[in-house]
Amino acid sequence: MFSESAALRRIAPSATIGISAKARAMKAAGRDIIALSAGEPDFDTPDNIKEAAIKAIRDGKTKYTDPDGIPQLKQAIVDKFARENGLTYKTSQVHVAPGGKPVIYNALVATVNPGDEVIVPAPYWVSYPDMVMLAGGTPVSLLTSDADGFKIQPDALEAAITPRTKWIILNSPSNPSGAAYTRADLRALADVLLRHPQVWILTDDMYEHLIFDDFEFTTIAQVEPLLYDRTLTMNGVSKAYAMTGWRIGYTAGPEPLIKAMGKMISQTTSNPCSISQWAAVEALSGTQEFIKPNAKLFQARRDLVVSMLNQANGLHCPTPEGAFYVYPSARGCIGKTAPTGTVIKTDEDFAGELLEAEGVAVVHGAAFGLSPFFRISYATSNAELEDACSRIQRFCKTLR
Ligand SMILES: Cc1ncc(COP(=O)(O)O)c(C=O)c1O
Repeated sequence: MFSESAALRRIAPSATIGISAKARAMKAAGRDIIALSAGEPDFDTPDNIKEAAIKAIRDGKTKYTDPDGIPQLKQAIVDKFARENGLTYKTSQVHVAPGGKPVIYNALVATVNPGDEVIVPAPYWVSYPDMVMLAGGTPVSLLTSDADGFKIQPDALEAAITPRTKWIILNSPSNPSGAAYTRADLRALADVLLRHPQVWILTDDMYEHLIFDDFEFTTIAQVEPLLYDRTLTMNGVSKAYAMTGWRIGYTAGPEPLIKAMGKMISQTTSNPCSISQWAAVEALSGTQEFIKPNAKLFQARRDLVVSMLNQANGLHCPTPEGAFYVYPSARGCIGKTAPTGTVIKTDEDFAGELLEAEGVAVVHGAAFGLSPFFRISYATSNAELEDACSRIQRFCKTLR
């Protein structure tokens, strides 16, 4: 009889992928559904990047490559970190994998032992705790609050660190809250981390280029160079260059860690797609001219969504600094009764009733470790966003 491994039984399927699949199935069955659940840009990969991939195919760049990336891409990544983040790395400190997700997984599997703790600030990207558990470690959820802008506070970080803490995962701008840490925020966290030399820092900078209102992006190894030797700075082309399907993520960090990650993938996935790697070389080294206009476009959508959600009975939506998500509170709706007669006790009930009543798919906050909230991805057209937010307003009005 089939049975899952003990490691797999520790984890749950991705809630965001699950809800997107449910929304797609309802749509296929003829329901009028607006899915605000998927975490990917709605625009196409820029042409110069596509052309680089086509050229790679024509040039026969279709063979195995070094498992952790072609030298040309590693160099483009070294140049990117120097140019955009003021961080100096050698190509031997760079690891490329089939997406940002595998980069994080590779780092955790290469380093975490049973009993090791990994601090994961909540709300968190759904995959962090499960990847920690797959690696055999213990995720330690560090709750934030909307009052603190969903950012961890130095005293809370200090209290969460134990002798068993191996990693802390930072993510700025954040999926799901959109919150981003300022230089001063990171400085204060760095001061705590300097006191705990056993703690390594994995910073997920995936949404670096999606920042608004002249927010200045910084990353922790840049803010505190003394942390450079225990920081893994992770990034990818998925969100910034609308390349989610191409599967390229990358990271740079201390050489022994990068070597260990390389050893791991030499026996598992081997290299990411050779053609995607050449496309990523162009993404990082070619024109960057669409990045700022894209951020402006997302900023306008953020403003639209925040404003409309704050007009809905019982909702409160903070204004995030980046990414393409908002994380409104549904506190004012908890305890009310939906048109189906169901009492809304949790954010999962809220999301379920909203989907049934108005066909709007959002992801409940419990999936991200912090309730009673829900996540909206606004990476969709203004017309669809307006329609979805009107439906949410209408739904909230029906709650008694
Ligand atoms: C915070 C964060 N990190 C990493 C990833 C993974 O990106 P990729 O698609 O490159 O695996 C995502 C994707 O949703 C994300 O939101």
